[in-house]
Amino acid sequence: MITCKGNLALLSTAHTSLLIRADERQPKLLYLGKKLTGAWENASLIAPEYDGTGFEAPCSLFSPWGGTDFREPSLLIRAEDGSVAADFCLRSFGEAERTKPNGLPVSYGEDSCLRLAYGEKRLGLTLVLEFTPYEDSDTYSCLTFLTNERGEGVTIEEFASLQLELWGKDFSFTTFDGAWACERQRHTRPLNGGKCENASYTGSSSAFHNPFTLLTRPGMAVGVNLVYSGNHRTIAESDDSGRTRLITGINPFNFAWKLEKGETFFAPEAVFSFGHSDREVGLHMRKFVQEHIVRGVWKKRARPVLVNNWEGTYFSFTRERILNIARAAKEAGAELFVLDDGWFGRRDTDTTSLGDWTDYEEKTGGIASLADEVRAMGLSFGIWMEPEMISEESELYGAHPEWAMKIPGRAPVEMRHQLMLDLTSPAVQDYIVESVSKVLTQTKAAYLKWDYNRHMTDTFGQAVGGEYYHRYILGLYAVMERLTAAFPEVLFEGCASGGARFDLGILCYSPQIWTSDNTDARERIAIQAGTAAAYPQSTMGAHVSASPNHQTGNASALSVRFAVAAGGVLGYECDLSALPEEERAAIKEQIAFYKQYRETMQFGTYYSLGDVSGEWAGYITVSPEKDTAVATVAVLKKRTGVQNVRAYLRGLDEGALYRVSVREGAGVKEIGLSTGGLLMAGLRLDGIFDEQDARSANPVFTRMFVLQKL
Ligand code: DGJ
Repeated sequence: MITCKGNLALLSTAHTSLLIRADERQPKLLYLGKKLTGAWENASLIAPEYDGTGFEAPCSLFSPWGGTDFREPSLLIRAEDGSVAADFCLRSFGEAERTKPNGLPVSYGEDSCLRLAYGEKRLGLTLVLEFTPYEDSDTYSCLTFLTNERGEGVTIEEFASLQLELWGKDFSFTTFDGAWACERQRHTRPLNGGKCENASYTGSSSAFHNPFTLLTRPGMAVGVNLVYSGNHRTIAESDDSGRTRLITGINPFNFAWKLEKGETFFAPEAVFSFGHSDREVGLHMRKFVQEHIVRGVWKKRARPVLVNNWEGTYFSFTRERILNIARAAKEAGAELFVLDDGWFGRRDTDTTSLGDWTDYEEKTGGIASLADEVRAMGLSFGIWMEPEMISEESELYGAHPEWAMKIPGRAPVEMRHQLMLDLTSPAVQDYIVESVSKVLTQTKAAYLKWDYNRHMTDTFGQAVGGEYYHRYILGLYAVMERLTAAFPEVLFEGCASGGARFDLGILCYSPQIWTSDNTDARERIAIQAGTAAAYPQSTMGAHVSASPNHQTGNASALSVRFAVAAGGVLGYECDLSALPEEERAAIKEQIAFYKQYRETMQFGTYYSLGDVSGEWAGYITVSPEKDTAVATVAVLKKRTGVQNVRAYLRGLDEGALYRVSVREGAGVKEIGLSTGGLLMAGLRLDGIFDEQDARSANPVFTRMFVLQKL
């Protein structure tokens, strides 16, 4: 809800409020916190005042470089003559219809916003900020854009999506960082009178630093994220005058955008949420993603249990082997078979054929008939592609070497033996749309795994210089927009060497993303918990793979691998047809169990479980009515003599009585009755764990619980 009184605006969600004052030079953030009640317009005693030292305004919602504010700016605009000063004045303020930005995906579900427009007279610019409250998820979005109304060309060198300035300097800065196979590990550091940065330089949102960032102190947390898949940067700066500034947006590193007369530049949409703790912010963010980012027919549709052949066969498969795996998948109760890398061109290794999206008939025996045969078994058919890439050894490269991203006169950098296509070129965009459409039509695929297996280097093509990275992402979104519109029923799963592009931009097109190439149950616990800090379980692809694990060599029991993978969208990734009979039977039971509780597991409210000692971890998903919940608890450091490990369940109805059961095969075995309140006070964990893989040197012990309200 948005209410304006004088120069004040109150934006409210179910449990939080945002109070903004439209001052002459910059809007001010008066309040972000617990929902305000009563006469909120009497805000003068908490309002920040001009501190008398020039242009340095406290708690501003944007800060152009060029005055006496020498902290990190949110805007740096260079005029044609080289000067960088900008001085904005209020033009208008009030509730308005939200603007739809050109070329960028945004959240949906609310039509109105608080719009603040500020004009820069000398440069002829208008800066607009639009804040939208999302009632149901206690989250706000901010869309910022700059229009060159009548001036000469200017160059935008920094243009943040959002600036928040909070009272106090005692915050901690939490980010979710990693690398290939260890994505989104949580790191927290104090912000001690300086700056902390969370940024990516790879051209994508990256496995190194996810854009989601938290600012916390006891009793308070603010989370920010970006609806963007490219280079991002969030920076927090605290100063001894007692403020902390948080800025998020496109990474200004190697960024410079020429804005000609009549043009508008949109910064990617930012989203932010207040909570009393990081866990509460996580709840808000997950709900927001589920309701206002993920879209299309798959938004709330039960996600199919899939079997993917990648770790089962890698590149070396035959039609017969694929059909055997598909048969075993059907027998186990899976619903979708996904043919991964290796089915096209002459793709027997990763050195060749990207860009040649034609059937490798000698291997597949005909991709269309292979897909038909899989469907005839009663499974849907899905396929892998890596549409943004090109191998030097390919027909496409022979025909269009100029489509590869490279700098004239310089040998391009290869990663995984491949180059990237120049998505800033409309001809390349058309080629991708055509080739992906052709594959989807030819195979009638119900699912597409869209992979992306390298970082950006040699950023040069139709666009050049400081515009390249952003124009690439605009090209990517243009392609995805066209394809998802043309194939609305297809389930797109994002992927980038595992989870290197897990962000809100991709989630606007792909309802789910492959979380990590690391399928080891122990390591997945941290990866999935880090991902779930801001993204719901229905967006996280999670597969059971072979033991010992191919990435880590760790052995773990099948039931442990299942318990962990069931924390996301469940799949299996191994040669199912080669497994011993008893393992296939166990998988059949796991899938039957999962299907029975899938609604709650995929779309229920997700709470991560775990204690600070790191001794145990897990998750619980609770149905909206709190009548069904599924909890998985994993003990990571089981020590002889330590018998008092307790799991503090969350999200249950305190006074209600629950029947507590443990998973047993496809069903459950009751272990007792207890109220939600008691279960949240600590469920005893000793003696109730699944069996172990005897080869495991350092096992993880898991158990899945089902709770049914009586
Ligand atoms: C990287 C992905 O993350 C894997 O799942 C697999 O699809 C390979 N690429 C195939 O090359």
